[in-house]
Amino acid sequence: MNTIRRRLARAALVASGTVALAATMAVHAQSGSTADEIAKYRQMLAEGNPAELWEAAGEELWKKPAGPKNASLEQCDLGKGPGVTKGAYAELPRYFKDAGKVMDLEQRLAWCRVTLQGLSEQDAKKVPFSSSGKPSEIERLAAFLTGESRGVKMNVQLAHPEEKRVYALGEKMFFYRGGAYDFACATCHAADGQRIRLQDLPNLLTEKGAQAAYTTWPAYRVSQGEVRTMQHRLYDCLRQQRFPEPAYGSDVITALTMFLARNANGGTYDGPAMKR
Ligand code: HEC
Repeated sequence: MNTIRRRLARAALVASGTVALAATMAVHAQSGSTADEIAKYRQMLAEGNPAELWEAAGEELWKKPAGPKNASLEQCDLGKGPGVTKGAYAELPRYFKDAGKVMDLEQRLAWCRVTLQGLSEQDAKKVPFSSSGKPSEIERLAAFLTGESRGVKMNVQLAHPEEKRVYALGEKMFFYRGGAYDFACATCHAADGQRIRLQDLPNLLTEKGAQAAYTTWPAYRVSQGEVRTMQHRLYDCLRQQRFPEPAYGSDVITALTMFLARNANGGTYDGPAMKR
């Protein structure tokens, strides 16, 4: 409890400075490249990312009895055994025998809320992304659980046939062209040095590019004042691609996540991070 209080106090202090810093960044952005300014900005706040507020709130949610069964999520098995949160995210997505399928963090979280807390599937997946005045418990839980893998090397296995199948599906989706522009993920993310409106587009097919991108989500988005998950990032990209929005927690998102996560193997997980 003490640790949580300390972290909350520190993060609140940082959050109150965020608006002023964002304004400073906007002024400075006119000189120097945007990427340089972002790097500087991240360095400035490296000591106290506001995402810590989300992590602390997520930890409380994890430990608080809730739902029809009035149970906490502490016995949730994220793949390393019931109750093990440390390092679990760095090995996701993975095949879960009890569910008979490959799950990413958010699918597994919903599974635990249903099986342990007795929530309906619909309630377990309610409010996946926060909007003003409507905070998301899922974003907070995801911030806590991913933070539990900070400093751990990504180690996603392709041992089970289902893991191989889901990875191959994600790969196929990455190259699948469609929509009004006939874009694929690969159109924007398969070459070095591509940019769009001053934003550097990571090459997600290189080890370095995949690691840098994957190991830094979820992230506190300075432009949105919220912690956003990888799922939210992918929604954003699918929108840019003019693809239909997938259902929250769908297997399509898990497949894409499997492809990205496995390609990031060997990189040290370093989220929740901070981004523009
Ligand atoms: C029209 C171009 C475009 C398409 C198509 C696109 N993206 Fe993106 N993607 C972007 C932009 C722009 C960003 C933000 C880069 C930034 O903020 O610097 C981004 C960011 C990302 C990031 C986060 C990178 C980081 O370092 O934070 C990931 C992961 C990603 N995209 C995956 C995908 C996937 C998977 C697809 C296909 C479903 C896809 N993108 C399709 C433009 C695109």
